[in-house]
Amino acid sequence: MDHTQGNPAKGGEREICTLRLRAGNDRFAKETGSRRRAYFLTFGCQQNEADSEKLAGMAQDMGYDVTDTPDEADLIVVNTCAVREHAEKKALSTVGQFKHLKAKNPALVIAMCGCMVSQPHRAEEIRRRYPYVDIVFGTGSLHRFPQLLCERMEKSRRVLCPEEETLTVEEGIPVRRESSYRAWVSIMYGCNNFCSYCIVPYVRGRERSREPGEIIAEVEKLVADGYRDITLLGQNVNSYGKGTAAGWDFADLLAALDRIDGDYRLRFMTSHPKDASRKLIDVMASSRHVAHQFHLPLQSGSDAILSRMNRRYDTAKYLETLDYLREKIPDVTVTTDIIVGFPGETDEDFEGTLAMLRRARFDMIFSFIYSPRKGTPAAEMAEQVSPEAQHERFDRMLALQNEIGTEKNQALLGVPVRVLCDGPSKNNPDLMCGRTEGNKIAFFKGETDDVGKFVTFRAERADAFAFYGEKI
Ligand code: 5AD
Ligand code: SF4
Repeated sequence: MDHTQGNPAKGGEREICTLRLRAGNDRFAKETGSRRRAYFLTFGCQQNEADSEKLAGMAQDMGYDVTDTPDEADLIVVNTCAVREHAEKKALSTVGQFKHLKAKNPALVIAMCGCMVSQPHRAEEIRRRYPYVDIVFGTGSLHRFPQLLCERMEKSRRVLCPEEETLTVEEGIPVRRESSYRAWVSIMYGCNNFCSYCIVPYVRGRERSREPGEIIAEVEKLVADGYRDITLLGQNVNSYGKGTAAGWDFADLLAALDRIDGDYRLRFMTSHPKDASRKLIDVMASSRHVAHQFHLPLQSGSDAILSRMNRRYDTAKYLETLDYLREKIPDVTVTTDIIVGFPGETDEDFEGTLAMLRRARFDMIFSFIYSPRKGTPAAEMAEQVSPEAQHERFDRMLALQNEIGTEKNQALLGVPVRVLCDGPSKNNPDLMCGRTEGNKIAFFKGETDDVGKFVTFRAERADAFAFYGEKI
């Protein structure tokens, strides 16, 4: 699909390079009868997905068609993640597989960007061991993609871009959205929290927020264009607004966005429990469009571990917020992130996490085995937990959450709810699949015409991860 939005490359140098590349690409198309194509591969979180939609928007402005087959691409962009080692390994091995494509098409340009290559040791590794990677740029240089590509194409040399020293908030970058009814909207970039296990503050820099006027205009346009599900993105949306001229906080922004008329849902992620405010919960409770869904990463149910993680809340404070949330919004879906096997986690600490899962009764958890990240304080901590203990704990936790999630979902059977239809299920094309207000998956018999629309759905059966039922 192809849904470009935004101004064509406004911004001096970016605009000039975009026009130069477009002229070259148009010439190529005339001479060869086929247009140059760009392929994007994205690892990691929604922020990365949103970044890739901007890269694709810029590429389109530069005269590339976007393709989903790497074999036919003239430009391959791999947008990497660094949050766990597994994501880094996958990105490196995938790029390794693209090497042979250069033998077939020597003019192919391969670029790597994003969080992994924002780490100096990884950028150096790419420079030395992946000579067929033509362009490397970090998260802070995303908006310079046309300039970097121009340099590569016109000077025929590798462009290994050092990270930007001053990180900016760039407006007016074109976006090529993957969907015509679900959209990501970044409201802020970076993170100041330095949780001791996390690489994000090192690779995405300090917090900076977009001005509310820019965000409101973007969301208004999305709603007018028929978008039905809009997710506001930031590493910690609760600290939105610092340093902006408007001086709004996140609750102010959400209240203003909620005033936009239309049939759509608003979501946001991620919230840090240390500053999830009552004001925000009150705004949500009285809103028209904010989905009754809250992702509130707990990370651990042990106060000792939370302190070593530098999370700056304890389990009592977390539960206070959760209880207030459920008091104000009784039907809210609550999800969380948990890290298992953080350095120094004892059996007793882990039992604390299980006890919190029983007490909090989350609808769903996203659980991760701790992965040491070079340069973070936790990676230097002495008492690393053995992989055997990590896996054993991980499995026990999933078994418990499976029971809780199934019970919670089964309590919702029979009640009609609105589901935004996404299209045929991958595993069973006879069924449509969609998302509830709580962002849970629902399967039902539907028609192609339902895609991108809200349907009324009644669940007849549920497991921990999905509902099965009928459209009514
Ligand atoms: N190891 C394992 N999980 C991590 N996360 C962040 N850093 C790490 C790490 N080093 C998890 C946290 C975060 C989610 C996005 O990824 O749970 O909330
Ligand atoms: Fe990482 Fe913590 Fe920032 Fe989230 S709040 S991005 S876990 S440092």
